[in-house]
Amino acid sequence: MNILGIETSCDETAAAVVKDGRVVLSSVVYTQIPLHIPYGGVVPEIASRAHVEKISEVVRTAMSDAAKSDDPDAGRIDAVAVTYGPGLSPALVVGLNAAKGLAKALGVPLIGINHIEAHLHTPFLCEKGDDFGMDPLECVPALGLAISGGHTTWVDMPEYGRYRIVGQTLDDAAGEAFDKAAKLLGLGYPGGPKIDKIAREYLASTPASSANPLIPFPKGRPRDGVTALAGLPADCCVSFSGLKTALLRYVQQNGGTEALTAAGEIPRIVASYQEAIVQAVADRTRTALKRREYKAFIVGGGVSLNSRLRNVLTDVASRAKVPLLMAKPKFCGDNGAMIAALAYYRRNKCGDEAMRLDVAPSLDFE
Ligand code: KG4
Ligand code: ZN
Repeated sequence: MNILGIETSCDETAAAVVKDGRVVLSSVVYTQIPLHIPYGGVVPEIASRAHVEKISEVVRTAMSDAAKSDDPDAGRIDAVAVTYGPGLSPALVVGLNAAKGLAKALGVPLIGINHIEAHLHTPFLCEKGDDFGMDPLECVPALGLAISGGHTTWVDMPEYGRYRIVGQTLDDAAGEAFDKAAKLLGLGYPGGPKIDKIAREYLASTPASSANPLIPFPKGRPRDGVTALAGLPADCCVSFSGLKTALLRYVQQNGGTEALTAAGEIPRIVASYQEAIVQAVADRTRTALKRREYKAFIVGGGVSLNSRLRNVLTDVASRAKVPLLMAKPKFCGDNGAMIAALAYYRRNKCGDEAMRLDVAPSLDFE
């Protein structure tokens, strides 16, 4: 079964064709990042307009690329899947309307997909010749971590497609914490990849040691004495607002961004800040992994591209003796393949019900 997936929740216009929920026959991602750079972040109206301009071409290319692959049925589309939330309302509406029109024109069912859930399916995406690895239906119970620009959420997955939130950020998402720090330090948008690169280069040339310690920024712990937050155990939650304030104070007390840049201090600050986020996520993950016997630890979302986080979570999972499932880097950011793939397994918003769907900007795990 070939599903065409369409994704326009934020600043990527994306479409892909995936066979049987696993094999990516084509994947096209048009990134709008250059359009948003001058504003230091995503501007919803600009995103929406760019999606309108690009969506037809992106979908057409995804369909024609898939038809060129050597799979015998590659030219056939059996269903259209689309992100209906969470995300920016004016951006989501472009993909949803395009998908409704296309499903009608092709005479195939429409499937509405939750973007965050789709990130957690990305480790199962394969390309021709790849080893399939674990089957999504057989890796449960699993612990999931959705870590992106909008989410930092740990979910218990007792069976495939069922989620119970066990921990989350109480304020900013990890990606947001990276992006805001990069803005403060004058590194530009999007901050995550820039911080990752600067920190990687710094740590390669100047490994942290007692003679050369990182700055001890707070590691995202909720305040002492707090035992339950948002109804969740505090030891599985993170808070990045204290870290953000600590960075701001450090910059102010040390002469400001320009002076620190001139003194060559930014790489050490960046590496220290990244380490605080990574250790916060690693610590809460260790706690969550102890709560139950899991068959797998599944990580998805743009921040899972972070090289330091990938290494540290690999170590955490290996010590806990739980297989870690993480997507290939090309499928970590927003893409249409994750939408098409999840739709093969999740048809809870399908057919007429999907045709009546409106965008859901604040959709969470259901
Ligand atoms: O999943 P995603 O593409 O979009 C959302 O669903 O939010 O995630 C985007 C987030 C941004 O905040 C971006 O800065 C962050 O992922 N990100 C990274 C890296 N690459 C992207 N954060 C840290 N290190 C990276 N290498
Ligand atoms: Zn995303």
